[in-house]
Amino acid sequence: MEKHWWQEVVVYQIYPRSFKDSNGDGIGDLRGIIEKLDYLHTLGIGAIWLSPVYKSPNDDNGYDISDYEDIMDEFGTMADMEELIAEADKRGIKIVMDLVVNHTSDEHHWFIESRKGKDNPYRDYYVWANPAEDGGAPTELQSVFLGSAWKYDEGSGQYFLHLFSQRQPDLNWENGKVRQEVYDMMNFWIDKGVGGFRMDVIDLIGKIPLEGITSNGPKLHEYLQEMNKATFGDKDLLTVGETWGATPEIAKLYSNPARHELSMVFQFEHSLLDNEPGKEKWDLKPLDVSELKAVLSKWQTELGEEGWNSLFWNNHDLPRIVSRWGNDKDYRVRSAKAFAILLHMMKGTPYIYQGEELGLTNTPVSSIEELDDIESINMYHDRIARGFSVESIMESLNAKGRDNARRPIPWSAEANGGFTTGTPWLALKPNYKEINVEAELQNPDSVFHTYRKLIQLRKDHPIVVWGDYELLETSSNVFAYYRTLGEERWLTVVNLSNFEEKISVDARFNRVLVTNTVEEVTDLHAYTLSPWQAFVVELSGN
Ligand code: NOJ
Repeated sequence: MEKHWWQEVVVYQIYPRSFKDSNGDGIGDLRGIIEKLDYLHTLGIGAIWLSPVYKSPNDDNGYDISDYEDIMDEFGTMADMEELIAEADKRGIKIVMDLVVNHTSDEHHWFIESRKGKDNPYRDYYVWANPAEDGGAPTELQSVFLGSAWKYDEGSGQYFLHLFSQRQPDLNWENGKVRQEVYDMMNFWIDKGVGGFRMDVIDLIGKIPLEGITSNGPKLHEYLQEMNKATFGDKDLLTVGETWGATPEIAKLYSNPARHELSMVFQFEHSLLDNEPGKEKWDLKPLDVSELKAVLSKWQTELGEEGWNSLFWNNHDLPRIVSRWGNDKDYRVRSAKAFAILLHMMKGTPYIYQGEELGLTNTPVSSIEELDDIESINMYHDRIARGFSVESIMESLNAKGRDNARRPIPWSAEANGGFTTGTPWLALKPNYKEINVEAELQNPDSVFHTYRKLIQLRKDHPIVVWGDYELLETSSNVFAYYRTLGEERWLTVVNLSNFEEKISVDARFNRVLVTNTVEEVTDLHAYTLSPWQAFVVELSGN
């Protein structure tokens, strides 16, 4: 298999609004990111996935784009963007753009035109349909952000489709002109020197809404192959698709190099393990560690030879891992490191979401007024209308709401964590005086330094990138696996519980490569792990 740079790096996701504010308006910006590139270089990452920075009215924080070739006013200018690409490049860091092309903002000029009437040349850029016989929405399709996915347009007497908010109308990918516009725009960014694209809900672009088909539509892969040919196909870029419903078989369609589609996808099977099957993400259920082991091991082996995995716990849509499946009270530092070790020793490209490397936790709130996110606010009103108690709604929002991950980054113990000299757009978690970047950098035992070490291990040892994966049978709360490359064999052991756990492995080791406790790792034939203990050892030949 041909080797690529994106198989060897660790990617860091920046949610620009919350990363670093350089001008005191309370909103993170591009110059703020440029200021912190040295910090990211110290961490050791090789690419940044930049959540959207394009012009946007911010109905969904930039995932509603009104101009793909311009920068959001709050974030800076195109000159700042070019400087960011160049400065990152100097540090060996590539910028991966967020490509949001399932939909645009309703303020995009294509939609402004499209809405003018049935004869407008842009009409077919979007998905329009006649009312049902009773005059209501064409189908029962629901928006991801709740309510009907169809919105009535008085002017023309038709409905347009919005799988997300009413201000995010869906593009019509069946229209060849739309596809060409998207490819031209991608080439505009490729010419600026970006390192690739993260493709927002890309599995939806082949939809046939009138037949109820949204994800994995029949022409999805045809479109991606066409896109590959028209844009990045002959360049070595990182392309990663967001695909919520992907199975390993589907993931191989996207990422098998012979098919010329994408480098990899984000699959979410593990991320769905803590809600009641078949119900909404808000219907909480505790994680069963044996299910996590089964799911991640399946992906490791299925994509071992064909295709490529992306590895992640967090992003801007998911709660903080240490609060979600770790213990953010008694074992915050240890459990944050345990999840880092568990993920970063697997095969695939790891993604770190800003603040994860500090072990940042969720930020519970007591009322809906403290939240900003459109999804959370819509969910609140929907569930109130359906008779849920405020208490149960807040419990779900505090566990899974998207604002948990979107609070500004605490850079120091200064006011507002040094994120801004003004008023932050969303309040920081009040514990920033204790948990912040400066403190993490100074403490050699911090979560940050574990992430840094894991990234360095990946750079120094090809086994981390290329080794085969094999799960080791252990008690259910222990997640342990081997990686093997030629004669070399590493064992990762992680106790995902608040209790001691015993392991018995018929092997000896030469050295400990990384650990999250001060306790010495001794004979593996009979070893007792302390709560959340995690380590990686290099096994000896016999
Ligand atoms: C997925 C993005 O990650 C999320 O933040 C956004 O709301 C939807 N797609 C719609 O673009």
